[in-house]
This record gives sequence, C-alpha cells and structure tokens, in this order.
Amino acid sequence: MPFISEELVEEIRSANDIVDVISSYVHLQKKGTDYFGLCPFHNEKTPSFSVSQRKQMYYCFGCGAGGNAITFLMQYENATFQEALETLAGKAGITVPKQELTGRERQQADRRARILEINKAAAKYFYAQLRMEQGQKAMEYFSGRGLSTETMKKFGLGYSNKFSNDLYQYLRKQGYEDGILKDSGLVTIDEGRGGRDKFWNRVMFPIMDVNHRVIGFGGRVLGAGDPKYLNSPETMVFDKSRNLYGLNLARSSRRQGILLCEGYMDVIALHQAGFDNAVASLGTSFTQGHALLLKRYTKEVYCTFDSDGAGVKAALRAIPILKDAGISVRIVSMKPYKDPDEFIKAEGAESYQERIGQAQNSFLFEIETLEQEYDLKDPEGKTSFQTAVAEKILEFEEELERDNYIEAVAEKYQIGYGNLRKLVMHLGTRAGFGRSARTLKSGINENKKRAKEDGIKQSQKLMLTWLIEMPELFGVVGPYIGPEDFTEELYQQAARELFAQHREGELNPAKIISMFADEGQQQEIAGLFNAKILEVETQAEKEKALRETVIKLKEHSISYRSRHLDPTDLAGLQKLVADKKSLQELQKIRFTVG
Ligand code: UTP
Ligand code: MN
Repeated sequence: MPFISEELVEEIRSANDIVDVISSYVHLQKKGTDYFGLCPFHNEKTPSFSVSQRKQMYYCFGCGAGGNAITFLMQYENATFQEALETLAGKAGITVPKQELTGRERQQADRRARILEINKAAAKYFYAQLRMEQGQKAMEYFSGRGLSTETMKKFGLGYSNKFSNDLYQYLRKQGYEDGILKDSGLVTIDEGRGGRDKFWNRVMFPIMDVNHRVIGFGGRVLGAGDPKYLNSPETMVFDKSRNLYGLNLARSSRRQGILLCEGYMDVIALHQAGFDNAVASLGTSFTQGHALLLKRYTKEVYCTFDSDGAGVKAALRAIPILKDAGISVRIVSMKPYKDPDEFIKAEGAESYQERIGQAQNSFLFEIETLEQEYDLKDPEGKTSFQTAVAEKILEFEEELERDNYIEAVAEKYQIGYGNLRKLVMHLGTRAGFGRSARTLKSGINENKKRAKEDGIKQSQKLMLTWLIEMPELFGVVGPYIGPEDFTEELYQQAARELFAQHREGELNPAKIISMFADEGQQQEIAGLFNAKILEVETQAEKEKALRETVIKLKEHSISYRSRHLDPTDLAGLQKLVADKKSLQELQKIRFTVG
C-alpha cells in the first residue's frame, strides 16, 4: 500500500458529503436533522439506518453497521481502505499517488487485467451466440428448464457454438496473443492444430466475482453427456475456493441469511423464484475461503443441498467450516425432490419458503446423521451412540448452550436428561478438558462478569456520544474526566483524538474513524459515537443521567488503574489519589447543563 498521509485521507473524505455518497446506494429520507433509510447491511422493513450530515457518519441501530464515507464503501463494495479512498478521490477529482509496483508486480497486474478483459469479451460472445440462429437449441434448452428471458439476461447466460475454434479466432482478431489466451483458460494451444476452444456446444454460465467481473465459466451439455458440466480451470483471476456463484447478486439481497446450494441451476432457479440470496460453490467442495467470504455478508447460512448421500456429505463437511467462521448453519431439506431447482419446479416458492422456516439446526442434523451409523436396538450400539452424542455436545463452550442441547437430544432420542447430562460432565472431566470442566461450574459467574463489562463499555460509549452531540459538555465533565478514563484500548484512542480535537476548537468525529484502516475498528468507533441515547424528559433527569455516567466511568477507571498500576509509577499513583478525591467530590456536586 502506498503511503497516504492522514491529511490526504481527510482531504478526500471531507470532499465527499456522506449523504451524497450513500444516496447513490440507499434511498434516504430526511427526518429532523438526520437521514434515514433501509439498512443495506441487514434485512429490515422499517428504517433503522441513519446518516448524519453533521457528523458525516452513518449508523444502523438495527445491526450496528456504521462508519464514515470510507467505511461505507468498504462495507458496501467490499473494498479495501485503499480502494474506497480511490473511489472517493475519483468522485472529488483528487489524485491519489499511484502505487509503486515492482516491474514484476506491474506485469502480473497487467496480465490479470488482460485476462479479465478476455473473459468479458468471451461472455459477450457467448451471450450473443445464444440469441442467434445457431443458439436456438441452447435457447430451447434454457426455456425448457423454465428460465425466463429476464433471468437469462440477469445471469448473462450464453452458448458456445459447435465450431471448435471460433472463439479463439474471434479473440485473436481482437488482438490477444496465444500466450495470454492460453492463460485465460478459454483456449488450448495445440502445436499442430493451433488454438482450440475449451468450450463448445454447451450452454454457458459466466462466473462473476462480487464486483461483477467475469472470472470464469461453467458450461453444461445440452442433454446427457460427460462431463455434464465443464468449468474453466483456475487462472490468475479465478480462484475457486474464494468465489461463489451468484454472490455478486446475493450480496445485496434484502433477505435474511444466505442460501448455499450445490449447483448453478439451483442458484438460478432460486433467484428466479425470488430467493435472490442463493449462492453455490464452483464445482468444488466448500472451503474456509468460502466461509470467510460469506462472513462478510451474513451471519447465517442455510444449506440447501441435494437430498442424496452426496448432499448430506457436503453438508457435514460445510457445517464445521461455517461454524468455525462464526456463521450459524441450518439445513434445509429438499426431500422428496433431488435439489432446489426441482423442488421449486414441483412445489413453488411458497413451499420452499416453508422449508426454510423448518430448516434444521445443524447440530441436530449432525446427530441425526450420526444416528444412522449405530444400531440403536442393540444396547451396545445405543451406548456407543450416546457416548458419541455426549462427546459432540462437549464441543459447545457455554454451559447454557450445552444444557439446551442435552435437553433437545434427550427428548428426541428418549435418553434420560439426567443420565445424558452426567455422561457429558463425566466425559468432560475425564478428557481433562480444562475448558469444559471450568466453564461447567463457572458459567453463571462468567455471564455476570460479562454483563458488568458491557455496562461499563456502554457508559464509556454514552459519554463519547454525548460529548459529540453536545460539545458544551466538555466544559462540564472536563474537570473530572479525561481520555485515560476510557479503559478499552480502542475507546481510549478515540477519546484521545476527540479531546485533542476539542482543544483545537473543532470536533470532527468522522475524521477519527478513518485514522483506523480496519473496517471492524472503524465500525466499532462509529458505534462509540452513536450510542443509543435514552430520551429523558426533564433537565433534572438529564443532569442525573450525566452525573451517574461520569461517576460510573470514574469508579471503573480508578479500580482498573489500581489493579494495573506499576508500584514504581509515582506519577500514576499521584493521579490515582487525586482521582479518588475528585470522585468523592463528584458524589457531592450537581451538574448543571444547558
Ligand atoms: P449436479 O450434478 O447436482 O447438477 O452438480 P445440477 O446442478 O443438478 O445440474 P442440472 O440440474 O442437471 O443441470 C452440481 C454442481 O456440481 C458441479 C457444477 O458446479 C454443478 O452445478 N459439477 C457437476 C461439475 O462441475 N461437473 C460435473 O460434471 C457435474
Ligand atoms: Mn439439478
């Protein structure tokens, strides 16, 4: 990444009004001083997504997405800090110093760009072929499978005709050489016969990345044939383990969660039926790269795989990968149909929606599959099954969660709840599971501790938000509170900047956000500056709330610092003593605001 100074970042950011930037993606309506719209980052029916022109920030009270104009582009366009900044610079007519690439890097970047161009040209070529006379059979094939003209257009579907080198010839005429054509994966170069197309006489599915760039193709035979689907090989621009079919569309779906299927046709059929949150892997199995990609857009995935054994296997494989990425998983049954495409055709969208509603918890799905490996009629088989179940339950770290699953499984398989619980505890201790044994006992304390921490974080957030909303409060709380009282590291950094801005005479919270290059940190800081402020009625109530928050913050900061104080740090000790005194003072005085 080239060096971009903080000044330039701020110049670019402040040259773009956030309302303008966001308006080109989200329909906003003015209410009072702020703008509101439907949040593009989660599914909702009433607007909780707010954009403040004064603060130059956005924040969603529903899902917590938030930041400044740079964060918005990072989140919405899935862009890096650098890319978001370049987009904004472009809009404002500011030039960003170009990245210094080594000769080799430049060459690679050029090659990648050329391959993307070739893919785009090929997609257009296939698209046109489908709509010409030679594409008639292919067109009939797609229509025969129930696809509308609109759907075909939306997915850019095409046809590679019967000539075995016409795409090659076409691309050569456009000026692309054999070397780069070979690297695109669309052509093979045979010494004797010259260039030959990889795809012929197949219906073509262009595969796009999240930014709608064509990175590869899948091609299906028109009837029966082997292989049924042929896919582009991996190239410089096509990494199958980091891209998903349909995600370019699904990422902006308003539906809850993502539907993960196995096939291209499943994705297309689902989108056509209104389920525009469907994606599929690219003829490969599901990987961690896929899970991390999905994690950027959703917290919940519905596996809607084929009903056969292979589909079950695919689900069992995907579940732990998704869970590890922090995504919750449910399994949608397509029985008695083969796959989502056939399900939709036979039963329609409403019925499919019902199936989503009935989707099975992934853990219970795993247990159900496990069950089939044991003979539950045989006491020995039953014992082994129960032990396997108990071991699986131990994977949950939270006692409450474990208990809930013990209860659910006990009921479903008619095992005594007490017995199963004992078995789980026993295995947990025996395995020397430090973790499980400890959390088994201390679960409740852990929860209490967490609630207290949340309360403290909350008062720190509230204070920062108040200071931004009512800068006159700096005068009121300033004598008692400073950045060092914000004990969370990130909060403290933000507070330092904010107090410094106040000293210099101008608050600019949006600027603080882009001092952090990480999208997650930007969002967290936006959250700090947008704490939910309870509407209080009277002046007295307002003053009381403020006083209580200041005291809470100070108390925590004092106890935190006494616990972490280095005994040789005299200045720190003196400050602590002074702070204790000012806390006593605080408890006596009244604040006057406004
Ligand atoms: P399926 O065989 O389940 O096909 O393959 P499908 O999606 O139901 O196909 P239709 O309905 O007969 O057209 C699922 C996915 O596996 C990959 C493709 O990505 C396909 O969409 N696949 C399948 C291949 O890559 N090659 C093959 O030969 C078959
Ligand atoms: Mn199918």
